[in-house]
Amino acid sequence: METIGKDGRPLRHLMTPLDFSVEELDKLFDLASDIKGHPDDYKDLCARKKLATCFYEPSTRTRLSFETAMLDLGGQVIGFSDANSSSASKGESVSDTIRVISCFADICAMRHPKEGAPMVAAAHSRIPVINAGDGGHQHPTQTLTDMLTIRSLKGKLDGFTIGLCGDLKFGRTVHSLVNAMLRYPNNKYVFISPEELRIPSYLREKLRSMNVEFEEVERLEDSMPKLDMLYMTRVQRERFFNEEDYVRLKDFYVLNKTKMELAPKDMLVLHPLPRVNEISVEIDEDPRAVYFEQVQYGVYVRMALIATLLGMAG
Ligand code: NCD
Repeated sequence: METIGKDGRPLRHLMTPLDFSVEELDKLFDLASDIKGHPDDYKDLCARKKLATCFYEPSTRTRLSFETAMLDLGGQVIGFSDANSSSASKGESVSDTIRVISCFADICAMRHPKEGAPMVAAAHSRIPVINAGDGGHQHPTQTLTDMLTIRSLKGKLDGFTIGLCGDLKFGRTVHSLVNAMLRYPNNKYVFISPEELRIPSYLREKLRSMNVEFEEVERLEDSMPKLDMLYMTRVQRERFFNEEDYVRLKDFYVLNKTKMELAPKDMLVLHPLPRVNEISVEIDEDPRAVYFEQVQYGVYVRMALIATLLGMAG
């Protein structure tokens, strides 16, 4: 998505991973890998630049990951982490808030419970806006994190059998990741969920129209032996309409040692976190469990993204 910035030049925003071409993503991942290898070379890149984190929905890692990324680039951070402590509680619209934030900061990361809210913000913004998660819709920077992790640990982004397990209906990380990985050839998908939490129909239609190989199953055990990676997700309590359904489905899947014995020796276990019960802590020491490493990759890729959107990536 592109609008006009303060200096009259085109301004880029990140709303979905598809806002970047495959070539641009490659460049971004190369930059993130270089930052990982030579963090000192980047420590003053964004000196005197400010990032605003506007979070209307709870978050620990995404917000702190953005803030860490900006601080590690030598920049500064302002923002709010709760809609109640912002003027939204007085009834201010997202479009007014971003006009105001545009006067204070150079770039903004926004999380909002309403799908499309960061897009509305971007349309009225004079600074780049990054969607840090909008409702059950998209979470592009988690996807960049996931892709950098896969690319770094497996050396490529194509030709995998990818299992995605848990809340595939409300999980925005799943929707973003599948949309992004669909651009790489020969990836197959195994969607593992209870009937009630299957992928949204638009995604199923998209997969069908692209003739992508996929299956939708309920049992995790049966699929384990064929997976190159397993993307576990939390059941999204806050998006359920009633508590009863949540309680019934929340512990539907628990990845434990017995199930991991069925998996290939080099299968990666990814999770956007926070984890609740869906991965037993006994798995944490398994070398295939890379979800904490994934968090670290998230900082590097957000550093690369901030530098790129600010036009400072060289
Ligand atoms: C995810 C999110 O907020 O969508 N977490 C994250 O940003 N790392 C996943 C989740 O909340 O379950």
